[in-house]
Amino acid sequence: MDRAKLGLPAVWQEMAAIGVPFVVAVSIYRRQPQANESQRTMDVVDLLLAILHHFLVFTLAGLLAAELALVRPGLSGSNLALLGRIDGAYGGVAMAVIVVGICRVIFGLKGWEYYLSNHAFWGKMVAFVIVGLLSIRPTLRILAWRRSGAAPVPDGEIAAVRSWIRGEVFFLALVLVFAAAMARGIGA
Ligand code: HEM
Repeated sequence: MDRAKLGLPAVWQEMAAIGVPFVVAVSIYRRQPQANESQRTMDVVDLLLAILHHFLVFTLAGLLAAELALVRPGLSGSNLALLGRIDGAYGGVAMAVIVVGICRVIFGLKGWEYYLSNHAFWGKMVAFVIVGLLSIRPTLRILAWRRSGAAPVPDGEIAAVRSWIRGEVFFLALVLVFAAAMARGIGA
């Protein structure tokens, strides 16, 4: 396997690839009859933010799955270095999810009041914060493992970090449940 393709640059390569779906989505959209120019601009902004948001959350889930695949007994050397890069990318993508998510609240078609008064939105925010808190321990351990050299990580530590990552997977799934609910006005 070409490891360089799995590192941070590959994530940004994937992000560049979103340009094609963006152009397709906008050109399909431009064929629709529109009310007026400002409505049209708001619709396009909403569409682009929704596409970007989905792209980022799928990337986040993929990076978390990659971490779970790498954190196994015998972890050392190049796989440990790769894990460190993936964990860094995970943090960066999580920040981008927050920025784009906030933009969706502010610039989305429903208006920010819709979300701030919706319980499912706040449930989603709490679940997302828990994912962030659960990720602190794995990040600290990965940094410590990388500092301590190339020796395989003890199995006990691997098991502990896998539990934290599984917790993240659980709460990420909960974020999706709340996201679908809030988009349909459940919890208003
Ligand atoms: C890992 C974290 C996140 C995941 C997995 C996620 C997932 C999703 C999904 C799947 C949808 C589409 C729901 C649907 O149309 O059925 C959505 C919509 C949305 N998300 Fe997120 N999201 C995350 C973080 C955030 C954050 C941090 C914010 C805001 C600060 C946010 C704000 C929104 C908004 C405003 C919508 C539009 C809902 C609508 O159509 O009314 N998201 N999210």
